[in-house]
Amino acid sequence: MNLRAPKGTDDILPPASRTWRQVLRAWEDWAERFGYDLIQTPVFEQTELFARGVGESTEVVQKQMYTFEDRGGRSLTLRPEGTAGVVRAYLENGGTGEMKVAYSGPMFRYERPQAGRRRQFYQVGVEYLGVASPEADAEVIEVGYRFIVEAGVPGLEVALNSLGDATCRPHYLRELRGWLEERRDALCDDSRATMELNPMRVLDCKVCRDVVAGAPAPVDSLCGPCQQHFEAVKNRLRQNGIPFIEDPRLVRGLDYYTRTAFEYIGTELDAAQNAVGGGGRYDGLAESLGGSPAPGVGLALGIDRVLLASSADPPSVLDAFVVIANEARRDVAMGLVSDLRQEGVRVDVLADDRSMKAQFRAADRRGAPAVVIVGDEWDDGVVAIKDLRSGDQETVKIGEVAAWLVGR
Ligand code: HAM
Repeated sequence: MNLRAPKGTDDILPPASRTWRQVLRAWEDWAERFGYDLIQTPVFEQTELFARGVGESTEVVQKQMYTFEDRGGRSLTLRPEGTAGVVRAYLENGGTGEMKVAYSGPMFRYERPQAGRRRQFYQVGVEYLGVASPEADAEVIEVGYRFIVEAGVPGLEVALNSLGDATCRPHYLRELRGWLEERRDALCDDSRATMELNPMRVLDCKVCRDVVAGAPAPVDSLCGPCQQHFEAVKNRLRQNGIPFIEDPRLVRGLDYYTRTAFEYIGTELDAAQNAVGGGGRYDGLAESLGGSPAPGVGLALGIDRVLLASSADPPSVLDAFVVIANEARRDVAMGLVSDLRQEGVRVDVLADDRSMKAQFRAADRRGAPAVVIVGDEWDDGVVAIKDLRSGDQETVKIGEVAAWLVGR
């Protein structure tokens, strides 16, 4: 058989995986700082969940789902995104009250693979359910922004829009449809087809960009409450120092959005996949899944894209590597390794007998900043520690090795 991973999927191996781990930890940290608990939902769900939640007319549902029948004849789909599953879980567990949750994991979309556009990709996200207030929208936008800045994505922009709600959207869609109808001949085939089902998606068509440049925008048709909501989101973002750009053309690829919609754009990435994340409010989603009404807002970030955009060097996963100068000292060296690990030091050692040179090479390959050399000085209660960056070497008491390595 050929040993290649399926098209559009990746193995994440060291040293690149070190940056992944660092970034995923930073994500967990930011989610906790903003009060988001962990949620885990299944990687596959009933197909109908996505058809109803994400929307029948979306490209995701029409062209990109990995759908299969299980042995019991059920139609299941590998999740193309996380929101529908989280809302399903919320409804299944009572569907009332406030719930703030964070998730991370692989998502699946049958796309034409390229850099930053994968068939299996990794998202992190939050969903803030049960709260209709604009404070929730601003908070969600802020948590994503803080995380992406820390991840080192250069040229980050937050694009913000409001898409209206069940009161004002129908008027807007009628107006837009009429406007598009008058320009039907100038639109591409895809847009002509989308226009009937989902006219707002036409605003996002790359081919028709010039034609739709003058189209009415959703923000121009907002009802009073939607306008107030949008103003309050913007005010809170300004107050919290989150820079944003209003983009009246911003529409999202998923159908469940009402009011706030936003994207994080890595302006230095290739335009075709420069959205490192996005999200918005989805006050109608719970009902469209057949549950009781529940407001919600959330975001998801594409970790593959965040890492593509940031240029951080992989961090070291070790504080030190233990080098055994003389195999007769293996027992005490292994005891030291075990003690250090229990004290919270990240340390490794070779499992088999190799030359000092081979052990130093291994330390270097693993990116260890220091080596602890266990040799005959052990009998005097000390070891040598060599700083691999400066080349300096010091003698350190055995009981003080942990403090020395961590305290540097
Ligand atoms: P989305 O915009 O479809 O939103 O995806 C969010 C992010 O996932 C994108 O901005 C992108 O970074 C990444 N992404 C999407 N598709 C791919 C792909 N094929 N390859 C690599 N990265 C990709 C959602 O998924 C919504 N569930 C966000 C949300 C949460 N809205 C409310 N709550």
